[in-house]
Amino acid sequence: MWGMIATWRMAAEGVEKGCQILKEKGNAGDAIETAVREVEDFPYYKSVGYGGLPNEEMEVELDAAFMDGDTFDVGAVAALKDFANPVSIARRLSHEKVNSMLVGEGAEKFAHKEGFERKNMLTDRAKAHYRKRVKEVSQTLKPYSGHDTVGMVCLDSQGKMTAATSTSGLFMKKKGRVGDSPIVGSGFYADSRIGGAAATGLGEDLMKGCISYEIVRLMGEGIHPQDACEKAVAKLDRELKERRGEAGDLSLIAMNHKGEWGVATNIEGFSIAVCTEELGVTVYLVTRQEDGHCTMEVASQEWMDNYMKTRMAPIEE
Ligand code: GLY
Repeated sequence: MWGMIATWRMAAEGVEKGCQILKEKGNAGDAIETAVREVEDFPYYKSVGYGGLPNEEMEVELDAAFMDGDTFDVGAVAALKDFANPVSIARRLSHEKVNSMLVGEGAEKFAHKEGFERKNMLTDRAKAHYRKRVKEVSQTLKPYSGHDTVGMVCLDSQGKMTAATSTSGLFMKKKGRVGDSPIVGSGFYADSRIGGAAATGLGEDLMKGCISYEIVRLMGEGIHPQDACEKAVAKLDRELKERRGEAGDLSLIAMNHKGEWGVATNIEGFSIAVCTEELGVTVYLVTRQEDGHCTMEVASQEWMDNYMKTRMAPIEE
């Protein structure tokens, strides 16, 4: 049994590549790194890697993480500038016994020393988005929107599980702001004996529930990934609303060591990409019901075509 699940439709091409590796009995580390890199490299996804949206100083600062569910090795980078594939740097860091999470200049120094590819990650398109947003913010819009992290969980045929994330974080964030994505237990978690989970949404709120760990913990009690995701998301959403008056976007995916998977969200418009031994790469649209349960339908071809068209449409400034 093998499989991979990821946040957002943007992960589909990556999941396809990753699953090819799994099909050929490759390992969950290589599969997930390959899958995330594919998303990082695609310039039209504006919340991950190359083409990611900048902070308020017009710099692209990236966060990424990798976890090996056999050994609990974790590596992460945060506020990293000018490197092409943050997830690969995070994976390399996961082999370090200490200093395995690095931020800013320290992370860049490590990446340079280890020979990772330097790249200016700020595209003309991202600059255009920035200029447009500056104009909109001066009129009506809130600055902090757009935080579509790619988060993935992977199971290989040897039973190893991994989790990984990559994001440019909140659009217009303060320089140095770090969200949940590189924080173990919040943005991601993997335990090959149980399963893994990964998050997308508002990092500041996801972190308050250590929600990826919470989902893995629930799966460890024998709860199906779907119920574990729904339970954890509903609880955090409710508690945030009770204690703070509002809850940010919270969307989670999970897979257990048997290849069963689940998803939950508190927003409209969440999508996921999944692939297992039985199921070819499939994009699902997730709808949250009043009672917190989430239903899924396979994305239509029309939806898929429209998605790409919107992503690649010219930006009207
Ligand atoms: N979930 C991504 C972030 O808040 O940075």
